[in-house]
Amino acid sequence: PHGRVQNICCIGAGYVGGPTCAVIANKNPHLKVTVVDLSQPRIDAWNSPHLPIYEPGLQEIVELARDGSADRKPNLFFSTDVDAAIAEADLVFVSVNTPTKVSGTGAGFASELSYVESAIRKIAEVATTDKIVVEKSTVPVRTADSMREILSAIGKPGVRFEVLSNPEFLAEGTAIPDLLTPDRILIGSLVNESGLSAASALANVYAGWVPRDRIITMNLWSSELAKLAANALLAQRISSINALSAICEATGADVEEIAFACGTDTRIGSKMLRASVGFGGSCFKKDILSLTYISETLHLPEVAAYWRSVVDINEYQKDRFTNRIITCLYNSLTNKKIAVLGFSYKKDTGDTRESAAISIIKNLAGERAKISIYDPKVEERQIWQDLQGYGNVSSVAGAGSVKDFVTVENNVYDACADAHAIIILTEWDEFSNKAIAKPTAAQANKPTNGHASTNPRMDWSRVADTMKRPMFVFDGRNVVDARALEELGFRVECIGKPGTNWAKERMLQAQTGKGASPV
Ligand code: UDX
Ligand code: UDX
Ligand code: ADP
Repeated sequence: PHGRVQNICCIGAGYVGGPTCAVIANKNPHLKVTVVDLSQPRIDAWNSPHLPIYEPGLQEIVELARDGSADRKPNLFFSTDVDAAIAEADLVFVSVNTPTKVSGTGAGFASELSYVESAIRKIAEVATTDKIVVEKSTVPVRTADSMREILSAIGKPGVRFEVLSNPEFLAEGTAIPDLLTPDRILIGSLVNESGLSAASALANVYAGWVPRDRIITMNLWSSELAKLAANALLAQRISSINALSAICEATGADVEEIAFACGTDTRIGSKMLRASVGFGGSCFKKDILSLTYISETLHLPEVAAYWRSVVDINEYQKDRFTNRIITCLYNSLTNKKIAVLGFSYKKDTGDTRESAAISIIKNLAGERAKISIYDPKVEERQIWQDLQGYGNVSSVAGAGSVKDFVTVENNVYDACADAHAIIILTEWDEFSNKAIAKPTAAQANKPTNGHASTNPRMDWSRVADTMKRPMFVFDGRNVVDARALEELGFRVECIGKPGTNWAKERMLQAQTGKGASPV
């Protein structure tokens, strides 16, 4: 019943909808693709030379499809005319935001589905021809059921809808390579004639550039759950290695050696095993909390507790790191200047959503430290917004305003001058003093990332000259070569590794039965 797709509409011109549809249009010049959004400024930005989001390679992909060239007509459009775009489309992607609910049932855990629902209602109201409706947003398993119900309740008689699930797996900073050469494209449908035919119509769109054996089809519910499952499994690996990092710090083992030793087992694999101050980003925490909530509503408390623990370990890791700082700095941070290097949730992005830096700075503020922040890409305005938004930091610190105890610097040397300690929270290359590995052929061919820091490596000996003694470095990302910094006189504490004075403290502990705990 649902034949070939010729006209696509995407509701939601955000982080997922924009790049995904740009690639679809770019690779399928015969299709017309219209991306719509309620936000006029956002649509204006997509139609301008300054796109609303930055991803390496995105600009070129958008421009070719949006503006056309000598031998191709434009086939990518950005508009706020939601009704018109839905009306003429035979396939509609729903790619709107699904944040964690902030109030009501499931607050703090469940996904807010009102944006999805209003998009679905709009499709049902407007449609006068058959539509394939595709869930792109990450949604709880069985959301497609509700979608089908709304569509059939509101839709005009005789108009048929088929709902598909087609989750997106791109990561920030690598969206375009992730879309151009995906590990897989996942399409879920009802396993009946109409469902399978819709799935095959969507598969043909991706077949414009993705090899057929990478386009996987399965039942709707599996596909919906697979997206949550993938993010939960990825985050679980990070919490697992972070839990091991605590054991490493207490025993003298080195978490990087553990990750290497385990990662070489092909059944385990080496990716997503970097110990850190904790994962951030817009997806991991939100999706695990959603999975936890789903488990609870299904009366599976043991399963809920299991997934919940992945988030708990992540929170614990941030607190544990703060506690190590406090212990090493003689149990008092009051009025001590602490330099925080890195504020984004990972390197090569200015995005700060759920960044570990936010909670760690809040912890340090509670200890009445004077915090000086440097990040090569995050805008100062964003830092103030995040620190204000995160509970009331100023009341935690007992100070008048955030600005009384936090400063934002635009270079690393001002941030570190007169500091008692440097805390590295994001793995920006410029903070590293490790020997630079020769890039692999694949890395050398990667598009340059405009959000990658182009600053030179920081000069650690210059920093050492200006710091208070003893000088501490707390490396929450394992970007420094601790031995080289120790030669400059630093005491170095890296995540998942014994610190500079670890052996001495242990000896003391053995002799006296107490002493500073290395954990
Ligand atoms: C395991 C480790 O694989 C091996 O590296 C270690 O040295 C000893 O422990 P073994 O216990 O012989 O080896 O078997 P393995 O094949 O790993 O299976 C262990 C258990 O897990 C079995 O009961 C197996 O049925 C179960 N299993 C394994 C699953 O339930 N699911 C899986 O995907 C894999
Ligand atoms: C993630 C998934 O990778 C992607 O497939 C999904 O579609 C969206 O969520 P993203 O949040 O952009 O993408 O970034 P990712 O690179 O996965 O990193 C997430 C967080 O985990 C970052 O804070 C990162 O620093 C941290 N991380 C990652 C670790 O702490 N250790 C690791 O080994 C890997
Ligand atoms: P994601 O990371 O999932 O792409 P974003 O928040 O970046 O999420 O983008 C979602 C976009 O969806 C926003 O630009 C928002 O304005 C848009 N949006 C939300 N609801 C609707 C709606 N009913 N109709 C059109 N656009 C919508």
